[in-house]
Amino acid sequence: MKILVLGSGAGGGFPQWNCNCANCAGQRSGRIRASERTQSSIAVSGDGESWVLLNASPDIGEQIRRHAQLHPRHGLRDTPIKAVVLMDAQIDHVTGLLGLREGPCIDLYATPCVFEDLTTGLPLLDVLQHYCGTRWHMLPVDGDRTSAEFEIEAAPGLRFTALAIPGKAPPYSPHRREQMTGDNIALRIEDRAGGRSLFYSPGLARIGERELGWMNAADCVLVDGTFWNEDEMERTGLGAKSASDMGHLAQQGFAGRPGMLDALRESAAARKVLIHVNNSNPILDEDSAPRRTLDSLGIEVAHDGMEICL
Ligand code: MLT
Ligand code: MN
Ligand code: ZN
Repeated sequence: MKILVLGSGAGGGFPQWNCNCANCAGQRSGRIRASERTQSSIAVSGDGESWVLLNASPDIGEQIRRHAQLHPRHGLRDTPIKAVVLMDAQIDHVTGLLGLREGPCIDLYATPCVFEDLTTGLPLLDVLQHYCGTRWHMLPVDGDRTSAEFEIEAAPGLRFTALAIPGKAPPYSPHRREQMTGDNIALRIEDRAGGRSLFYSPGLARIGERELGWMNAADCVLVDGTFWNEDEMERTGLGAKSASDMGHLAQQGFAGRPGMLDALRESAAARKVLIHVNNSNPILDEDSAPRRTLDSLGIEVAHDGMEICL
């Protein structure tokens, strides 16, 4: 299985257009060593020919331009992107669907909650009906159903499992105050030929026994790297919301509760990679103390253009 990191940043990317925080200003001026990051999305392929997008970033046009694997190949109009799977209905994960409107009808895989959000609070799919349209593939993760195995016709070499995880519904969701099963999923993707697997979860609010089990069973984990600290937005003067308010587990634990690093320390995965990194996170600075901590734990930070082969 081939994995392309198209966008390793959180919503807003890095540096964020309107932000003068130490990281964003430091990156612009060259005062810190840190690379630009577009907004959250990866692509996976079993054969290197047909690709499945996991989330569709608002930066999708630039991301496709930068990756030859995703360029058109045959005929006048063409794309090797055969399907899109959505982890949630957040702006940074779904608005790239609009950027695919010039292409063929989009084969879209998502949960009932996400399809609902995208036809109500953020009715992108209604808009797309006037362009390429979308073919819905409902992932039955809702109510008591907390996981669903599925296949994607154009990616026969891969086996997918959608896993309900703790998170948050987006602010524009009709049920934003009560989290429902299917608002947020993680994906387990297994390469049928080699048996290798990826656990992908760019937004993960809490890690319980279940999540730890999946993280242990995977060869590579690509997980929520949004915040270093629970109160990072407040610390950096950027906002009042905590990491958990936003549905993210910070790398450092707080109030006696374990953080992402504790979970990764326990995980048996050969590769442990943080993704969806917010512009406030000190790990963006490659010379920072938190970055050295990650190095000492064998934890990588995803960057745009990173390629992983499993
Ligand atoms: C999040 O994951 O919380 C988002 O990046 C926020 C956003 O896109 O506005
Ligand atoms: Mn996000
Ligand atoms: Zn910033």
